[in-house]
Amino acid sequence: MSEKRALNIGLIGYQFMGRAHSHAIKALHVFGDELPFRPVMRVICGRNEAAARKVADHYGWERVETSWENVVADPEIDVIDIVTPGDTHCPIAVAAAEAGKHVICEKPLALTGDEARRMHEAAVRNKVKHVVNFNYRQVPAVIHAHRLVTEGTIGDVCSFHGSYRQDWSMSPDVPFVWRFDEKVAGAGSMADNGSHIIDLARYLVGEFAEVTGQSTIFRPERVGADGKPKPVTTDDAAVFLARFRDGALGFFHTSRFCPGHKNGLQFEINGTKGSIRWDLERLNELEVFVDDGAAPGAEFQRIMVTEGGAHPYVGHWWPPGHILGWEHTFVHQLYALLKAIAEDGPTSPDFEDGLKCQLVIDALAEAEKSRGWVALK
Ligand SMILES: NC(=O)c1ccc[n+]([C@@H]2O[C@H](COP(=O)([O-])OP(=O)(O)OC[C@H]3O[C@@H](n4cnc5c(N)ncnc54)[C@H](O)[C@@H]3O)[C@@H](O)[C@H]2O)c1
Repeated sequence: MSEKRALNIGLIGYQFMGRAHSHAIKALHVFGDELPFRPVMRVICGRNEAAARKVADHYGWERVETSWENVVADPEIDVIDIVTPGDTHCPIAVAAAEAGKHVICEKPLALTGDEARRMHEAAVRNKVKHVVNFNYRQVPAVIHAHRLVTEGTIGDVCSFHGSYRQDWSMSPDVPFVWRFDEKVAGAGSMADNGSHIIDLARYLVGEFAEVTGQSTIFRPERVGADGKPKPVTTDDAAVFLARFRDGALGFFHTSRFCPGHKNGLQFEINGTKGSIRWDLERLNELEVFVDDGAAPGAEFQRIMVTEGGAHPYVGHWWPPGHILGWEHTFVHQLYALLKAIAEDGPTSPDFEDGLKCQLVIDALAEAEKSRGWVALK
């Protein structure tokens, strides 16, 4: 029996992200030596008790609750992990912070900038650790790209191209789910996919100065659970442009209507001395071009980011070349939160990052209405 004290986790939600986070919490054992406590899967919460219990049994959660309020009020719980749709993030996170719990919340952080600000203020006021799960910051190749940009390897950044394209909602047979309801999801691809790519742009390039864009709904009606048509109120696709504070330009495309793109998150950064590009579907690889004038006809070089130096967590996983996957990003993000709790250190990305991303999404909604450019304050 370990002598380490327990750090009790309460997970709110049990479906897609519920499974991804449950898997990640179980895999935290790879960082076991680094942590002064044992993460304990104490309670999982879902309104449908039988369905939540099934996930609890598969993944090893000790208890099931049907009310998130009970989980947040439970004095035994140290960390609240929020993996529910966007309209629930603000009430759960604020209540959790007020109850003195550390919080990790799925992206996008909230439905609006006002909500995100309330969440950030509650976390800061109550001195709890707070993380928004922009998990793609935890890909070793993305961390390496950040390092190359920061060290000036590609010079001053001139442009950022980001796209996050999928095709899951194209069929008319896809029923109405919460992602098509703006009251629950906030926006469609612009917030769901867009929040990830906006966060990566902030991480890799810097703060947004102004934005403009347009979105569209290709399939305005879908069949609800009652068999009746329901209006779709979130976008299927969006395009937007940005100017960053340091002068770089940004080009973005988010969509659920790009056939063949299952989870196609890609970016390219162009600087005065070189370029970097990355594709989630080949997540261990980074392509780098540096123009040092020495090699005419030089091309992009492919780097496998599975070795020390490029990879802050490499010692915990496998030998070089033994690649990591999408699920490892969740393990890294949870480990970063637990490390911050253990050391009373900072978290990243935190609710302030979630807020800043949300303000870009709010500005895009405003720009779409006014058909102009909107400055970020
Ligand atoms: N980081 C990523 O890569 C990533 C990927 C997918 C989804 N997400 C985000 O994760 C969140 C959840 O998405 P998902 O795909 O898991 O959705 P989902 O529909 O698969 O699951 C949502 C869960 O929330 C539960 N829920 C809803 N309202 C609740 C309430 N009031 N109380 C308790 N439980 C409630 C549902 O029962 C379900 O378990 C969203 O914010 C989404 O944007 C992040």
